Amino acid sequence: MAPRNTQPCRNVLETIGWTPLIRLNRVVDGARTPVYGKAECFNPGGSLKDRIGVAMIEAAEGEGRLGPGGVVVEATAGNTGVALALVAAIKGYRCIFTVPDKFSQEKIRLLKAFGAEVIVTPTALPPDHPDYYLNVARRIAEETPNAILANQFYNPANPEAHYRTTGREIWEQTGGNVTHWVASAGTGGTLTGVARCLKERNPNVRVIAGDPIGSVYLPYYRTGRLTPGGPYKVEGVGNDKIPSTYDLSLVDEMRPVTDREAFLMARRLTREEGLLVGGSAGLIVHVAVQVAHEVDDPSAWIVALLPDTGERYLSKFHSDEWMRENRMLEAERVTAEALIAEKEAGTPPLIAVEPGATVRQALGLIDEYNISQLPVLSQGDCVGSVSEATLMARVIEDPGVLDQAVENHMDAPFPVVESHVGLESLTKLLTRQNPAVLVRQNSAIVGIITRFDVLRRITGIGRSTL
Ligand SMILES: Cc1ncc(COP(=O)(O)O)c(C=O)c1O
Repeated sequence: MAPRNTQPCRNVLETIGWTPLIRLNRVVDGARTPVYGKAECFNPGGSLKDRIGVAMIEAAEGEGRLGPGGVVVEATAGNTGVALALVAAIKGYRCIFTVPDKFSQEKIRLLKAFGAEVIVTPTALPPDHPDYYLNVARRIAEETPNAILANQFYNPANPEAHYRTTGREIWEQTGGNVTHWVASAGTGGTLTGVARCLKERNPNVRVIAGDPIGSVYLPYYRTGRLTPGGPYKVEGVGNDKIPSTYDLSLVDEMRPVTDREAFLMARRLTREEGLLVGGSAGLIVHVAVQVAHEVDDPSAWIVALLPDTGERYLSKFHSDEWMRENRMLEAERVTAEALIAEKEAGTPPLIAVEPGATVRQALGLIDEYNISQLPVLSQGDCVGSVSEATLMARVIEDPGVLDQAVENHMDAPFPVVESHVGLESLTKLLTRQNPAVLVRQNSAIVGIITRFDVLRRITGIGRSTL
């Protein structure tokens, strides 16, 4: 492994930037085009915003607007707040943030952990409402002595920081071979700064933006008109207005992404690549993987932005319960038909006997297929069942039973379900009294599902491992 951090740091601010560029191997689903993630969760504040936290504060200091005893105010979705609070902690400034209430509790607690003051504002307000989070921040900055508004949506230090750092890093880390830059815009600072830097060095670099459905960027990009936005759940990207930090002329292509697509990919990045990332990373990688398949060129080099750590969303899309509540994780629908198809190799879908078969024949089948019970079928209908336990007990009592017909030793018939019935209904039918269920398709009984089949599906434990 290449040595990292070989020099001691004077303070935590020196650890900002030079985040790793990490190859994505599994979520690309076999695409030949290499896709790399710029893993901004490696910044000390856990997101790409650390870069602009330093840049905006130092720009204000440089312009003489911020000095000892100063206050930094911002309307922030959280990550910019963490970044500003982290820098303010080192430099000794007070921080006040306004945060819309759609943002996760983890993010708000995090800001407070760094010593910031947080004012939570309602999300469902029009941008011209006095309590809209940006307006509240502006008012506080105006009314508080020695305060500056970091103003990330209109501060040129934002895209400039990414031009200087993120863009240059990507150029160097890819040895100048980057061909596609895939990102998504909140303020647009990252997308813009990096795109400007890369296109300056190679005008052929394609810039592709993902945008959450509901954000105004995509309709504006396509039509040039600002239309009202809609709700969406991915945090940190998309917008309800066009800020000055976003230079849309640098974007070669913009694609819509649903919350569900974004969150499912963020979860895959975590489980399949070991990268615990936020929903915006999922959104961006969803687009990057589409592009990778379309480009289909092993010599191309796609760089996708991974804006922040997923630790801030553990109670949101990283939680199965939350995903289910929001109808983004369909309960996997396992049908009776699917369970029959999953039976262990060599096991026929249905083993049955006729009423006139002997107990000896029935026990022979039970033994041969290592099963516990058999349905008794007469002209395609289930007229009863026989179980190993009952038959054995009777044979032990009277060996003559072996040559008697099973119809004289039957238990109740098994219930019959249609093949499209789901696992939940099957589970309810498989009770103490009912060890198995028969499956009907097009009026014919085509298979049997036993408790073992369901157990194997739920736990992965098969009869042979029990
Ligand atoms: C999680 C997350 N992703 C992406 C972004 C977008 O970055 P930018 O504002 O540079 O467009 C942000 C910005 O807040 C963010 O918090």
